[in-house]
Amino acid sequence: MERWVRVCDDKSLGNGEMAEFNHGEKKILVAKAKGRVYATDRICTHAYADLSTGFMNEDQCTVTCPLHLSVFKLENGVPQNPPAEAPLKTYKVKIQDAGIYIDIG
Ligand code: FES
Repeated sequence: MERWVRVCDDKSLGNGEMAEFNHGEKKILVAKAKGRVYATDRICTHAYADLSTGFMNEDQCTVTCPLHLSVFKLENGVPQNPPAEAPLKTYKVKIQDAGIYIDIG
């Protein structure tokens, strides 16, 4: 089941920027790379680290965990190096009425 929620204005998130979004218990990371918006879970799958305090690489379209430096693909949440092994959950994104929406299902 789709459940779209508005995160923020599309223009408020610049290329190469990340933002936090909380919805109920969910902690979500929203990131824009080369004009495209991605949404993943914000807490690392290895231990408790908030990826919004990590480092985004817009060219590679990745975010690096600030704690043990696993790199995750924003598109599919897959870690590119240890110690993280499990992928981050990802969310569908759409731009509508100049806003960023994600499907929190
Ligand atoms: S907490 Fe993210 S790699 Fe360890």
